[in-house]
Amino acid sequence: MILVTGVSGGLGRLVLQGLTALDGLDVVPGTRGGDGGTARRIDFDDPASLAEGFAGVDVLVMISAGYAEDDVVLARHGAVADAAAAAGVRQVIYTSLAGSGERTTLALPHRWTEHRLAQGPFDATILRNGLYAELLGGLSAADAVPAAESGVFSAALGTGRMSVVAREDLADITVRVAAEADRALAAGGRSRHAGRTYELEGVTALGGEDIADLLTKRYGRPVTYRPSSLAEARAGLAGHGFEAYQITHTLSLFSNMGAGFLQARSSDLTELLQAPPRPVHDLVAASATAGG
Ligand SMILES: NC(=O)c1ccc[n+]([C@@H]2O[C@H](COP(=O)([O-])OP(=O)(O)OC[C@H]3O[C@@H](n4cnc5c(N)ncnc54)[C@H](OP(=O)(O)O)[C@@H]3O)[C@@H](O)[C@H]2O)c1
Repeated sequence: MILVTGVSGGLGRLVLQGLTALDGLDVVPGTRGGDGGTARRIDFDDPASLAEGFAGVDVLVMISAGYAEDDVVLARHGAVADAAAAAGVRQVIYTSLAGSGERTTLALPHRWTEHRLAQGPFDATILRNGLYAELLGGLSAADAVPAAESGVFSAALGTGRMSVVAREDLADITVRVAAEADRALAAGGRSRHAGRTYELEGVTALGGEDIADLLTKRYGRPVTYRPSSLAEARAGLAGHGFEAYQITHTLSLFSNMGAGFLQARSSDLTELLQAPPRPVHDLVAASATAGG
């Protein structure tokens, strides 16, 4: 049996859809809102829900739950590792963060979780997910929307680029890895993905100038890029109801992009995808202009 956590989220929902479309798999959805009917209740912050929810599970697709301070994320991901071990889960597939994000503040809880899972009695497969195209669009949105009027896209992206990937591509790979793992276990074997770490970096990198070009097409008027400072970005985020950790992570992404660290040099994406990577430009443009 395969259990997918976090199925109300963007990635978990796609993974669940993909797995249930395949023949011959026993797939169970898990979510904080589950009531034991169509979905099991899986709340990483409530270990009792994990003890019950992981019963009978062979393959656990553990969607990271990173929206919190690091100590909270470490506690919740540690609880998952403990509960998976206690329930006799045989393989855990964890959605982590790609190597280009190594220097961001997002990386620490992911790397800690990878290490923690490696110590478990189960096999682990680490899917180091690239940064979503939607994330780059979202980071740009506050500056992209006014550009429709001003013709200036002023953002703290420096002159670096971010390698981005369509979330659907990451979901497709997760489905493939989970299905192959479950089938290998059912056949009395061990998955070829057991113990592997895959770097699923996007194969397209975009920067501020590229986003200005996308906005030019979207708005039907010339938009030029003007790099702004990190101090301006920090001031722009204040007073909008963001949690402190969100501001930390956002500034860290801007800072890493400006430093040129978010452009990947290599990727396992195309090797694991069974189709060419989805184009990312429209995804970035749509999420950058969603609030306009
Ligand atoms: N690579 C990237 O660019 C990128 C960008 C953003 C986020 N991420 C990470 O990737 C994860 C999946 O991305 P997404 O796009 O699906 O995010 P999303 O749409 O915002 O969904 C958030 C996910 O977190 C789960 N979650 C939150 N608290 C939880 C808890 N206490 N116990 C169990 N699950 C919990 C939710 O599950 P339920 O509500 O169903 O319980 C949901 O699946 C995120 O949670 C985040 O850690 C990666």
